[in-house]
Amino acid sequence: MASDNGYDVSVVVPTYCEAENLPTLIPRISNAMSSAGLHGEILVVDDNSPDDTTQVCDQLSSDSPVRLIVRTKERGLSSAVIEGMKQAQGAALIVIDADLSHPPEKIPELIRALQVEGTDFVIGSRYVPGGGTDEEWGLFRWFNSKVATWLAYPLTSARDPMAGFFALRRDHFLQALPQLDPIGYKIGLELIVKCECKQIAEVPIFFGNRLRGESKLSIKEQLNYLRHLKRLYEHKWRNLAQFIQFLFVGASGTIVDLLAFTSLIHWVPTNVGRGIAIGVAMTWNYWFNRQITFSGARQRSIPHQYLLYCLSCAAGAMISWSVFVGLHSQINYFHEHPVFAALVGIVLATLSNFLLSKHLAFR
Ligand code: GDD
Ligand code: MN
Repeated sequence: MASDNGYDVSVVVPTYCEAENLPTLIPRISNAMSSAGLHGEILVVDDNSPDDTTQVCDQLSSDSPVRLIVRTKERGLSSAVIEGMKQAQGAALIVIDADLSHPPEKIPELIRALQVEGTDFVIGSRYVPGGGTDEEWGLFRWFNSKVATWLAYPLTSARDPMAGFFALRRDHFLQALPQLDPIGYKIGLELIVKCECKQIAEVPIFFGNRLRGESKLSIKEQLNYLRHLKRLYEHKWRNLAQFIQFLFVGASGTIVDLLAFTSLIHWVPTNVGRGIAIGVAMTWNYWFNRQITFSGARQRSIPHQYLLYCLSCAAGAMISWSVFVGLHSQINYFHEHPVFAALVGIVLATLSNFLLSKHLAFR
């Protein structure tokens, strides 16, 4: 599978402060390629590391087909990988970590798997038979990795979609390029979802501890992962994902509403208390819908948007309130259980609120 200039493969290596690992990594990649008869290039994408990366790459380039790309304006694993892939010339693209957690000797096997008819993505996988991780993985890292994988389950059936060692075809990447906007670490998952990869092959690998230096995976990256997941869910199921977030916000608002209502009931007439509680919950919901559900519509000024949101909710509030008054005054059961009458009103109002918020306030 050679491209126009004859490269079979481009190996993209994102690096930040990996100068110590490159002299081991690059020759191993290079040997793996040549012993499998693969003609290719190695692209090291470095974010201007304050170490000897430049000199080291310079030296290595006399024996290996390595090219260094230095970025000075941007930082981040995912965007570095995308940059490397954009500049790559090979028909197949491989991404691999620089710290030797991933075995470069598996590269030919990943390429072969990618050549199987229909396969559009290949993962160097820890979680298929024959794969594994180093014993010394702490419980925290293991748990973290498991939870992250479970959360991605609705997005892909791959066993190890979090992997940083994978392969795909360059033309497939280029097709998806305009859609890519990852945050954080999980560039593989981003590509699987945005390239709409259907048939994913997983080649077992053993994920070792990093050879030298330290991991750059921080708590901030973990939070970024949640933001990234939100984007991916919205990409895949736009309206449903939004409605579910709206429901979560609404559920929290319901608790706030009922807390306010049950406290107010002792101080003010029941119907008035209902009105005030709805107002409190509405403000609460506005804020969290702005921050979470419709976070893409935050450029609008808060007062303007709040007003529109209140208008949208006024319709819902009217529904909520009149359903309550109707049930509470007409039906004996609800007269004795006003909270349940309130709940019925809330449910009906939620639907109308979602549609109006989406199409009016957060358009
Ligand atoms: N250019 C660039 N910019 N490279 C970076 C940056 C950055 O901001 N941050 C990290 N890298 C490079 C590292 O130099 C390394 O080559 C690779 O990305 C992975 O970084 P590590 O810091 O070693 O990450 P990790 O071992 O915690 O995470 C790895 O395993 C995870 C699964 O457990 C990565 O492969 C993840 O993608 C993977 O999900
Ligand atoms: Mn690592």
